[in-house]
Amino acid sequence: MSLKVLLGVGGGIAAYKAAELVRRLGERGAEVRVVMTAAARSFITPLTLQALSGHEVRYDLLDPGAEAGMDHITLARWADLVLVAPATADLMARLAAGLADDLLTTLALATTAPLVLAPAMNHHMWRHPATQRNLARLRERGVRILGPAQGEQACGEQGPGRMLEPGEILDALALGTGSPLAGRRVLVTAGPTREALDPVRYISNHSSGRMGYALAGSLAARGAELILVSGPSALDPPPGVERIPVESALEMEAAVKARVGNCALFIATAAVADYRPQAPAAEKIKKNQTEITLRLVRNPDILGQVAALEPGPFTVGFAAETEELEAHALAKLRTKGLDMIAANLVGGETGGFERAENALLVLWPGGRKALPLSPKPRLADALADLIVERYLAYTRCP
Ligand code: CTP
Repeated sequence: MSLKVLLGVGGGIAAYKAAELVRRLGERGAEVRVVMTAAARSFITPLTLQALSGHEVRYDLLDPGAEAGMDHITLARWADLVLVAPATADLMARLAAGLADDLLTTLALATTAPLVLAPAMNHHMWRHPATQRNLARLRERGVRILGPAQGEQACGEQGPGRMLEPGEILDALALGTGSPLAGRRVLVTAGPTREALDPVRYISNHSSGRMGYALAGSLAARGAELILVSGPSALDPPPGVERIPVESALEMEAAVKARVGNCALFIATAAVADYRPQAPAAEKIKKNQTEITLRLVRNPDILGQVAALEPGPFTVGFAAETEELEAHALAKLRTKGLDMIAANLVGGETGGFERAENALLVLWPGGRKALPLSPKPRLADALADLIVERYLAYTRCP
């Protein structure tokens, strides 16, 4: 079945590249429908994109004729992927704010498909704190950003802001080359767990779930079918990701066991509590004693159980360490029998729980790669690339 791509074209000089993008998407087997902003029509005509896509180009939310055909909600549902290229500074600002003031931004709100943006703008506009803040907000929501590239700009200046070439965009989406994750099911655990002491209290930790949510979004944008088993988190699930909410480690274990059977990859980012109260009180514990003792018992090691499955998925674990990062991570990789482990130092300057940035040391049997300190969504993207690369090597010679 061909991938249905909704291509949103913004109003920048790079809009002329949309013509080639439509043609090459078609060549790689995608079915393309084009939506343009009002400004985009000043740069390239709808007729050109209609001829190349073979479908009427849409640009008006309030066009009764067009809405009588495939209305905007049907179009939003139709898409497997929404690609916005070029994404201008204004369009990114409107998307970040959640505006629905034209057809394209309305579709971006109405769709549950992954959203991918290829920004294009003057380098000062790109570097402006307002644009960077919008970018961070979009990334936080799981939107995948491709580029921009460095180099000479239409205005004659040099710097970051040039839209990626259509070929580079297609490569990043792994379209037609047989996206390695297309149709593959991936299960990600994320967030903390809560271990009940009584009906109103629990033991938990500071995990925000950011890394797991960002990773799930990155992998969904690469064509994977994403299941996110998540402990309590304030984050919204990224587009195209099915979230299964859980509270305790035992609930997380049950949710994973029920779904991992037909998954190609299992990625454990959750900060699962190692222990739980042996017998949570049925009623609220009263402060009528000077001292109380909590008896804790070990929780099941969800990652360890999945890694021991035969045949099992490609398994990626995380390790948060306060010292001897590589030695501890390597020991976990070996003892748990993982295919890959992503380790980070916590408690230091380099990131960890509740921080927006992080750095990772990724290890696998016979290899390693350090991913430098960067915002978690960008780090998740780099890690997703590495996971796909290692997964492919593993499936070629298991
Ligand atoms: N994990 C899990 N189930 C648990 C505990 C951890 O799936 N009950 C997963 C985490 O999601 C993470 C990895 O295992 O991917 C962390 O390994 P673990 O050995 O549990 O880390 P720590 O608890 O930090 O280990 P230790 O205290 O031994 O350093």
